[in-house]
Amino acid sequence: MKTGFSFIVFSLLTLLLVGSCKNAPRKEPSKDLFTLFVEDPDARPFYSDKQGVFGKNGMVASAHEEASKAGLEILQAGGNAVDAAIATHYALAVVFPFAGNLGGGGFAVIREHSGKYHSIDFREKAPLAAHRDMYLDKDGNVIEGLSLKGHLASGVPGSVDGTVEMHSRLGKIAWEKILGPAIRLAEEGVILTEREARGLNSYKKTFLEVNGPQLTYFIKPDGTEWKKGDLLVQKDLAECLKRIRDKGREGFYSGKTADLLVAEMKKGGGIITHEDLKQYKSAWRKPLVSDYRGHKVVSMAPSSSGGVALIQMLKLVEQYPLQQWGWNSEKTAQVMIEAERRVYADRAKWMGDTDFIDIPLDKLISAAYLKERWKDFNPEVASKSSDIRAGDIPGYESMETTHFSVVDKEGNAVSLTTTINGAYGSKVIVEGGGFLMNNEMDDFSIKAGVPNMFGLIGNKANEIAPGKRMLSCMTPTIIEKNGKLFMVVGTPGGSTIMTSIFQTILNVIDHKMTMQQSVNALKFHHQWLPDRTVFEKGAFSDKTLAELRKKGYVMDPQNGTLGRMDCILVYPDGRLEGASDPRADNTSVGY
Ligand code: DON
Repeated sequence: MKTGFSFIVFSLLTLLLVGSCKNAPRKEPSKDLFTLFVEDPDARPFYSDKQGVFGKNGMVASAHEEASKAGLEILQAGGNAVDAAIATHYALAVVFPFAGNLGGGGFAVIREHSGKYHSIDFREKAPLAAHRDMYLDKDGNVIEGLSLKGHLASGVPGSVDGTVEMHSRLGKIAWEKILGPAIRLAEEGVILTEREARGLNSYKKTFLEVNGPQLTYFIKPDGTEWKKGDLLVQKDLAECLKRIRDKGREGFYSGKTADLLVAEMKKGGGIITHEDLKQYKSAWRKPLVSDYRGHKVVSMAPSSSGGVALIQMLKLVEQYPLQQWGWNSEKTAQVMIEAERRVYADRAKWMGDTDFIDIPLDKLISAAYLKERWKDFNPEVASKSSDIRAGDIPGYESMETTHFSVVDKEGNAVSLTTTINGAYGSKVIVEGGGFLMNNEMDDFSIKAGVPNMFGLIGNKANEIAPGKRMLSCMTPTIIEKNGKLFMVVGTPGGSTIMTSIFQTILNVIDHKMTMQQSVNALKFHHQWLPDRTVFEKGAFSDKTLAELRKKGYVMDPQNGTLGRMDCILVYPDGRLEGASDPRADNTSVGY
């Protein structure tokens, strides 16, 4: 039995590794907003009153202040948004081992200031020796934990290849310069925040269990618990970063780092080989493009399901007057929940790696198909997930993450989400390399109908095959208004990624919030199965909750939080508002 949906809350709680917003005066969001959104004058629909950070020349919003500063350093040294994104990525691998990575993968959507878009898929791949039933015992039952913890849980990492590709196609300044801040942070050390100290302490036992008692990485040298303010120095990681600086792709996929990675796999019964590393290649994908209330929406195509799901949800609710109905009012929430239910049902059936299966992408986001999806909606009563199936498309057979956003002074933009899946991935730390490996194999449907750690189920489209990419929810997205850059959005959160982004976009476009208010706003989530809506306490008024429950909606308040957004909004006068989630250490810096 897998841990299932309850893990969402757990994993989101563990993500609570509280951000401070530098450079901006703190002030209360306007009273109007509160009265506009909720009837109860004491209610606060926001997680906090954190204020956005403003700049005109560049902005980096990420999970850690030092990583955002690394990006800003590169922008100020003449780099463009792509160079800065790469610097932020490598800095996160040092200062945010919880999700930042060398041993993981991700996706980026990039907009050149000319309006030209690119998207790159550097998702991990199943090793060549992987097979469909590798996580099942001889009776066909799932071997608990095997796809989640330890050496067999890892896919072949894509982050280094992806960033090298991004730089060679779109970068401006020298590669060696870009890795400078990350190397410095690894060599000189990073000061732990309270959240990070807590995270490392709470996983110490698992790190030792997976890597053995000789482990020194992430263990405080004097053997005591980490505290806020302690310095974390990572010398071996600095050497890995230098090899990547000096040799690019080959500095990771061959030579010493590759040897260390393969030796680590052999030691722990993993199956990633030199051949896997040699063969890994990220893929430039055609970005998915749609529109919402006159805004152009550009998002990620498979192997992430994120873009398709986000566009489906936006198009499904576009016919409804959400602004008039109000933020998280009963009617607004109802159509959003029903849209989410239908979209996640589609995801389970249709989505997988397009290098291996055929997905009717255009159909799935077409107006005619989406109109059909509303046919069984009755506004008087909640639909039942057991009655909702994926839509039919003739001709087709059934069959811990981190996000950051960057905008430079020319208006180039990068939206990048990357992950090693769970907190600290598989917990395997490559000996001699000092970096964590992913547990992304769990994102495959390891057995048809068995949920992954986020409670998501899948089928044939997402079964394991050698060299195949596991399906993702990551949804890096860029939005344009009147042909100009408008919003750069994204978040971690497993299955809740698409619904958090969905709400963040609606909060700005329909409910006229600032970027930061939209991020601060409390969130909810429905994913078809299980048939219930989880929500951050305060996201709905008591009256709305009572009305929704009367119609049959199972509304389930959570102690955990939803989303760790890092977003940027561009105002008509050119100002950039960096909005980093108050739910963790996330910080925007701009100039
Ligand atoms: O690719 C995916 O959808 C997942 N591996 C993302 C994991 C994630 O967001 C973890 N953070 N809560």
